[in-house]
Amino acid sequence: MEKKEQVKRKIEKLRAEINRHNWLYYVKNQPEISDGEYDRLYSELKELEQKFPHFITPDSPTQRVGGEPLKEFRSVKHRIPMLSLENTYDEDDIKNWITRNRKIISDAEMSFVVEPKIDGVGISLRYEKGRLVVGATRGDGYTGDDITANLKTIRTIPLVLRGNFPEVVEVRGEVYMEKSAFEELNRIRAEEKLSLFANPRNAAAGSLKLLDPAETAKRKLNCFIYQAGEISKTGVSTHWQLLEFFKQLGFRVNPHIKKFKTVERILEYFGEFSAKREELDYEVDGMVIKVNEMNLYEKLGFTMKAPRWACAYKFPAKQGSAKIVSVDIQVGRTGVLTPVANLSPTKIGGVVIKRATLHNFDEIKRLGVKVGDWVWVERSGDVIPKITGVIVSKRTGNEEEIKIPETCPVCGADVVKDESNVAVLCTNSFCPAQIERGIVHFASRKAMDIEGLGEKVIKLLIEEGLIKSVVDIYKLKKEQLLKLPLFKEKKAENLLKGIEASKTRPLSKFLFAMGIPLAGEKACQILAEKFGTVEKLSAAKADDIQNIEGIGPKMAASITRFFSLPATKKILSQLKALSIEHGRMRLKSQKIFLEKFLSLRGKSRCPAVRRRNSFSKTAAKRLLQ
Ligand code: IVH
Repeated sequence: MEKKEQVKRKIEKLRAEINRHNWLYYVKNQPEISDGEYDRLYSELKELEQKFPHFITPDSPTQRVGGEPLKEFRSVKHRIPMLSLENTYDEDDIKNWITRNRKIISDAEMSFVVEPKIDGVGISLRYEKGRLVVGATRGDGYTGDDITANLKTIRTIPLVLRGNFPEVVEVRGEVYMEKSAFEELNRIRAEEKLSLFANPRNAAAGSLKLLDPAETAKRKLNCFIYQAGEISKTGVSTHWQLLEFFKQLGFRVNPHIKKFKTVERILEYFGEFSAKREELDYEVDGMVIKVNEMNLYEKLGFTMKAPRWACAYKFPAKQGSAKIVSVDIQVGRTGVLTPVANLSPTKIGGVVIKRATLHNFDEIKRLGVKVGDWVWVERSGDVIPKITGVIVSKRTGNEEEIKIPETCPVCGADVVKDESNVAVLCTNSFCPAQIERGIVHFASRKAMDIEGLGEKVIKLLIEEGLIKSVVDIYKLKKEQLLKLPLFKEKKAENLLKGIEASKTRPLSKFLFAMGIPLAGEKACQILAEKFGTVEKLSAAKADDIQNIEGIGPKMAASITRFFSLPATKKILSQLKALSIEHGRMRLKSQKIFLEKFLSLRGKSRCPAVRRRNSFSKTAAKRLLQ
């Protein structure tokens, strides 16, 4: 009898200890023991529980993953409805929301808590006497599914509360899947020929709806808590304090939550966070702004579906769905054939999207995408939208396979697979499409940055026979331009000015413009720094180049091969004849530049400026050699 009591006490002690280390490791990110030490405690508890199974309780840390697969989920009625939020993409709506609230509460003091809006699955967790009793989905807001067994597999969800907890604690939060875990999951699913999840939110939702908790446990889910449901007593009067209280109870609260008094500061933080959210390993689709003073909630009340004390300010949407109407094959500057989908127009984040890249034919195979399919389309910033998945449930059976062309769709030459076996290439280096894309790249912003020489104008100049290579750009005459449709005096002059200005671009941009295979913008900057002139770089051996930090052997080989090609030599000598010889062309302007910096150097009180100036001096000096 006494021994049993002792064992029970030992088990309880171990559980408390394991729970604490679990909390330190997963919630606080501050472990105090090694993984090995943790494993020892865990094994000790496991062994005791195996020997004395009648002491096993559902809240034991050994019971996170376990139990039989369910047949179906039980329904759970939310005692306090899980409402949704008023959404907006518009700054003015936020200002109006605050003004309206100020009117309702008249003179009362009002501050705001701003939280990342986690793009996951809303859940509720109910604890009685400190123990997790029910975990549920939001469902329709009034009734959800009992997914307790699945939620217990998430290590940041405490099974037992810490500290001084009220009798009943119900909290609400968001379960999500980290972006990296989502990518990995889809990678494995693709290998196993299973359908892919369109985004981390769908993956999280799918994982919580698995009937076998052991499967959910494999899905690497996580959770942030941000709201109270039914709580018997908190002793707090603001939302900020409530979040602090949650932390004390052992819940994981998002670290980017802030408190502000004015709308200006809220909007400022929104902008700041919007820029840095890409760095986070979870999707955030906006910010939730909540009135901090909870005594105002009653007065503010509710609209039909949402409380007036909270509001979601969303980032421009990134994802939408569309139907693939047809697929075009584009031929790039290096001859690579890229499939591009023409879509039924769809609005994503306020922009109408009609085309999206499919990258290459391997990607088409990986996604299993066909013409006629409904697909998920993602856009971020200015980059060309991409297709991330097929909505298989919308298939009709009339979809058509996308085939790899046997010849170049532009010039009819044979196509081959490149060394990596991923890209399909046109074999004709005189392919008009390759030439056109090469010129577009040469004139583009990150390369020679020729103002007025965009895709349309280049197409026109090629069609009219005025340019056949980048060299011809520098031979263009005003009279020729004036004969072109839509070219008036001003436009012609501006283009010629743009072309003239491009002659003084730094060597790094010139190298990038040349389109050396494998050498990106950064590599070209390094090469320009190291070699100073085109001659020195073209005379360098692959060994010398690959010894430079940031340049690998593959790239070094590609660079020497590029400069050994007769076509490259020809273009360089033609450009030289036109006195476009970067590295020396700018001698005069660089001297002025260097003198200016030398006179300024060390004078600035700002250390960043001082550092920049001293760097510019060495860089400029090297270029002057
Ligand atoms: S508060 C009544 N805070 O967004 C207020 N919701 O569109 C209840 N969400 O159903 C929600 N992050 O699933 C709140 N920091 C956050 C949130 C958040 C994500 C989700 C939640 C909710 C949905 C509303």
